[in-house]
Amino acid sequence: MTKKKGKSPKESAVETRYLIMPHQANPHGTAFGGVIMAWIDMVAAMAAQRHCGKEVVTAGIDSLAFKEPIRIGDHVALRASVNYVSRSSMEVGVQVTREDPYTGEQAIATTAHLTFVALDKNKKPTPALPILPETDQEKLRYEHAKLRVRARKELLEKMC
Ligand SMILES: CC(C)(COP(=O)(O)OP(=O)(O)OC[C@H]1O[C@@H](n2cnc3c(N)ncnc32)[C@H](O)[C@@H]1OP(=O)(O)O)[C@@H](O)C(=O)NCCC(=O)NCCS
Repeated sequence: MTKKKGKSPKESAVETRYLIMPHQANPHGTAFGGVIMAWIDMVAAMAAQRHCGKEVVTAGIDSLAFKEPIRIGDHVALRASVNYVSRSSMEVGVQVTREDPYTGEQAIATTAHLTFVALDKNKKPTPALPILPETDQEKLRYEHAKLRVRARKELLEKMC
């Protein structure tokens, strides 16, 4: 059997849905940010695992933007896909959409970019499968992620 050269983002993309319950809200009656962050980390980790087929750890949350409040009773859809792979590290993008279940009104509530690192059996960083973007949107996400990764590395070098 020939070894796979890579995977497209849609082969490992993950989508999941939740209903915001009162115990997940803050005193203003909107979703507590920490709950949304935990769901984002979870769904992004699953996409990274599905991409590389290995154990992964969250190395960092590179960006997180709460754009719209999510209310108690809203449905939320989280969509995660791998944007970019360096060597062992993978950038995963997550989009959180809130939906009013009665009117069907939808809005992008939160967006995030996270970096995961693939680990070998000794818990050491190990190369992840290359990502093969196919659609125009996947190719754009790949190019943007590449710029973010380069900027992060340059900033780290300047600060050391
Ligand atoms: C992430 C971790 C595995 C990196 O290990 P390390 O010994 O620093 O490894 P390296 O320096 O060889 O870096 C490995 C890769 O991680 C990337 N990386 C390391 N720290 C990073 C950070 N803070 N943000 C983004 N990427 C990072 C490197 O750029 C490198 O990427 P590449 O292989 O694609 O070039 C290690 O720091 C770790 O285990 N952190 C704790 C993770 C954790 O507990 N997460 C929370 C629960 S899952």
